[in-house]
Amino acid sequence: MSDVRVLSCIQPTGEVHLGNYLGALRNWVSGQHDKDVFHGVVDLHTLTVIEEPGIAGDATLRTAAMLFAVGLDPDVATVFVQSHVPEHSQLAWIMQCNLSYGELSRMTQFKDKSAKRSGGFVSAGLFTYPALMAADILLYDTEEVPVGDDQRQHVEITRDVAVRFNHRFGDTFVVPEAVLPAAGARVMSLQDPTSKMSKSDESDAGCVYLIDAPATIMKKFKRAVTDSDTGADAVRYDRENKPGVSTLLDINAAITGRSPQQVADGYEQYGKLKVETGEAVVEALTPIRERYGDLLDDRGELTRLLRVGADRAREVATATLDRAHAAIGMLPT
Ligand code: TYM
Repeated sequence: MSDVRVLSCIQPTGEVHLGNYLGALRNWVSGQHDKDVFHGVVDLHTLTVIEEPGIAGDATLRTAAMLFAVGLDPDVATVFVQSHVPEHSQLAWIMQCNLSYGELSRMTQFKDKSAKRSGGFVSAGLFTYPALMAADILLYDTEEVPVGDDQRQHVEITRDVAVRFNHRFGDTFVVPEAVLPAAGARVMSLQDPTSKMSKSDESDAGCVYLIDAPATIMKKFKRAVTDSDTGADAVRYDRENKPGVSTLLDINAAITGRSPQQVADGYEQYGKLKVETGEAVVEALTPIRERYGDLLDDRGELTRLLRVGADRAREVATATLDRAHAAIGMLPT
């Protein structure tokens, strides 16, 4: 194991989908044997939108089971639940005090999510969310943050707040970097290929979940939106003019380890591209779905693994929080 420290997290909202897998989870697994990796199920983040009781705990356990199902090995990877490590909330406050109202107002995710809820309840937590995310990252002296493209801006603001804190109070935090996959950094919806695949999709048809049955996955791919072009060069990678076809090529490329252009060279018809991409996804996801089922059958063992993860995470997190308090010059307890 090298000393390179990696951290990345996932929110336990809804089911884990193909975008999460190709944009992030797959790279968490491939990094675990040669880096020192921490992966959190960030339940506190979901409180920004949860308004009823009894949901958070079960969703957290299911998402944690999925992290082990995709291949994170509890012997080498530290997998933990955010609320089990209270230092996250504690450092988040300090981060809020070192970020400005203006910076937070510019976050595209806040603008999108608050617009979607306009007229409804927009929590203050939705606004200060990036401060909690910065705390998640900085607590672990993280050098690399493997994420999908949509989290790039959040990692950028984390860098800004780390640099600002270090400047104000003295060198305390490691300044992290986002690491994006070569293919799959932005998987788009199969129904609306100009929007990213997302748990909050209007329809389930555009979003492939890791627990979908093979027949469901095939149906989603067969119904994927393309266009009405015909002819020998209809299958080509062109995000601007052919978003549907490009989405299929992106997914196929990410799964089979080729470039979208290389994939396009092998096809003349949309039908065949849809079916073969669906089949490649089914093949990749089947063992994951099976392991997920087995893991969820033993909730006691999952809980134990998460307790071990939280203990390991706390060791690092406490030391960093102490360092931040000392740097500011707060009165020791
Ligand atoms: P979340 O839970 O929305 O997504 C988890 C990971 O999946 C990636 N992702 C995608 N990648 C490609 N295509 C898509 N359509 C797609 N949709 C999601 C995300 O980029 C992410 O890497 N704020 C974060 C959670 C978080 C976090 C952190 C991440 C909290 N603290 C600290 C890294 C470090 C989020 O909501 O991700």
